[in-house]
Amino acid sequence: DLSGIDVRAEIERLRKERNAVILAHYYQKPEIQDLADYVGDSLELSRKAAATDADVIAFCGVKFMADTAKILSPEKIVVLPDLEAGCSLEDSCPPEKFKAFREAHPDHIALTYINCSTEVKALSDIIVTSSSAETILQQIPKDQKIIFGPDRHLGGYLSRKFDREMLLWPGVCIVHEAFSETELLKLKAQHPGAPIAAHPECPPHIIDHADYVGSTSGILKFAQDFEGQTLIVATEPHIIHQMEKALPGKTFIGAPGADGNCACNICPYMALNTMEKLYLALRDLQPRVEIEEGLRVAAKKSLDRMLEMAS
Ligand code: 13P
Ligand code: SF4
Repeated sequence: DLSGIDVRAEIERLRKERNAVILAHYYQKPEIQDLADYVGDSLELSRKAAATDADVIAFCGVKFMADTAKILSPEKIVVLPDLEAGCSLEDSCPPEKFKAFREAHPDHIALTYINCSTEVKALSDIIVTSSSAETILQQIPKDQKIIFGPDRHLGGYLSRKFDREMLLWPGVCIVHEAFSETELLKLKAQHPGAPIAAHPECPPHIIDHADYVGSTSGILKFAQDFEGQTLIVATEPHIIHQMEKALPGKTFIGAPGADGNCACNICPYMALNTMEKLYLALRDLQPRVEIEEGLRVAAKKSLDRMLEMAS
């Protein structure tokens, strides 16, 4: 029972006592974003995790992100407020099935989205995030055959944009999959001239209406630079918190799901992290992310390649 405990004050006290850094993804609740040392996209948070001199990384994001922090910073204690914070993309790609897929295509390299398990990273050649995928893909020779997993929408988007055939793993993000084209067009009609910024995890029928397509950090940058008054945001709506802070005079509207509301596009995994669980994680240094050393070293190779190639 945490009643009577000033959770925010306790987090402040414990982060100093533990020499902890709090990393948060843009899809976290506003109160968590506001107290984090760094808020960022998947690539930025990986870089922070690799570079930190803190003793403890409290990762407010999902499991594959905390795993990535542990792969890159094995000597640190990495805690995730809720270990059940998974990802539908990771779930779509069991390592043994991915291994069989690779073995069936021995002349292909595996370019793999960071939203996957450590085992799948260990089976991959190069990891990408949505902010680094385009730069990395352009460095791969045109005649090199590629398997791309687990997000078929990000893979399909890259394949269309760069006119490169890739074998796509059939995974999707349940959050971005839930945007409704009909409701988006209705919203656009209500806000004539408002641009749409979309994450490449969105399906093509949403991407086709977007004025800008990019990672969370790319969408934020687009929001900072666009000249109009209203922006429609087709990604997890908690990112709007950063936009409203940076640009209080503008209007940001989350793209709707089938019910006409953006609330159904809240990531249920990201939402498992709460202030209370963050406090307990800092207090108990649990739940911790642990990775077997052989697996960690194998997975680090494909992540290091990303960090080198992402520039
Ligand atoms: P980025 O923040 O790297 O764009 O990733 C979005 C996402 O879905 C993370 O799960
Ligand atoms: Fe995974 Fe989608 Fe949630 Fe990102 S938003 S963590 S891709 S389920």
